[in-house]
Amino acid sequence: MSARAAAGARRPADGEVRLWVCANDDLGPGTATALAGHWLDEHEQATADRFIFERDRRQYLVAHVLVRRLLSLETGVPEALIELRRSERGRPSVRPPEGGWPAAQGPLDFNLSHARGYNAIAVGRGRRVGVDVERLDRVSSRALDGIAESFTPGERVQLARTPAEVYDRTVLRLWTLKEAYAKARGLGLGLPFDSFGFVLSDNGGVAAFEPPADDPSGTWWLLELEPEPGVLVSLAVEDGATPMTALRLHTGFPWRPSALRASIHPGNPVPLLAPGTLSAALPLAGAAPHRARPTELQRSVA
Ligand SMILES: CC(C)(COP(=O)(O)OP(=O)(O)OC[C@H]1O[C@@H](n2cnc3c(N)ncnc32)[C@H](O)[C@@H]1OP(=O)(O)O)[C@@H](O)C(=O)NCCC(=O)NCCS
Repeated sequence: MSARAAAGARRPADGEVRLWVCANDDLGPGTATALAGHWLDEHEQATADRFIFERDRRQYLVAHVLVRRLLSLETGVPEALIELRRSERGRPSVRPPEGGWPAAQGPLDFNLSHARGYNAIAVGRGRRVGVDVERLDRVSSRALDGIAESFTPGERVQLARTPAEVYDRTVLRLWTLKEAYAKARGLGLGLPFDSFGFVLSDNGGVAAFEPPADDPSGTWWLLELEPEPGVLVSLAVEDGATPMTALRLHTGFPWRPSALRASIHPGNPVPLLAPGTLSAALPLAGAAPHRARPTELQRSVA
């Protein structure tokens, strides 16, 4: 089989979204530095050189080596030849080579998040994706109180009713959902976090979504995963021209494209990914993305 055919055989179907979660420890420091030296572009190399603390530099190198490796698997373009560009607000995207990708069709979107030793990258086709990862053990209660002040009145009502033992976790769940959605939109913190809201269901997952005014009919899959206890990942996936058919969760560094950990299909029972995971309540099990339903949202937080 030719390299092009082999890469083509690995690429996800249009309706599939891939989420990779990789700990920094999955890639030795020497290996990360060596691969970064070969693969990263000038902008990435210069950014890596600016970090004062080695731990931050390592985080950046692993994340960016990971991005290039995944995009290479998805497109068939060698890691060092992947051309990344950034929007005015800093959102990276991949530029197709002239003549198109060897092993990919249609627009490809990806998004990266990294948080103290963990990296999450989402890849979709023909739809925008946004991801955020946060560690529950690395955020102080004081910081979470400050974060909660940026939420909508409805979300603050939810929090006021939240039992103390899950308060921090609930704030962080809302925060990662907000970041994932704002990052899918390419706006990041430029989108006021009190301009859109979520209602969390009691048994995990998102019960309702109130989009911001500039996305009135927004239809999104809003997913939460906990691949390791205390590592919260939220994913926002646009309901594109074709329906999302599966979310494939991969863990570890993608030396091989086959390190598939779970595959979740709309309408099918959702597997548990780790003890304490929130994935059992993924809305995928309900086979419908979240649509803007402000009246229902207002009812549920009233
Ligand atoms: C995107 C943003 C929310 C990241 O927040 P964070 O929780 O600290 O970081 P995360 O680890 O989740 O995500 C960082 C990654 O998101 C991606 N990213 C950067 N800007 C982004 C944007 N506007 N939208 C989506 N993704 C973005 C990058 O890949 C970045 O990683 P990198 O810096 O290593 O390349 C924040 O940086 C932001 O709001 N940026 C926009 C700033 C802006 O509007 N600038 C306007 C010009 S003044």
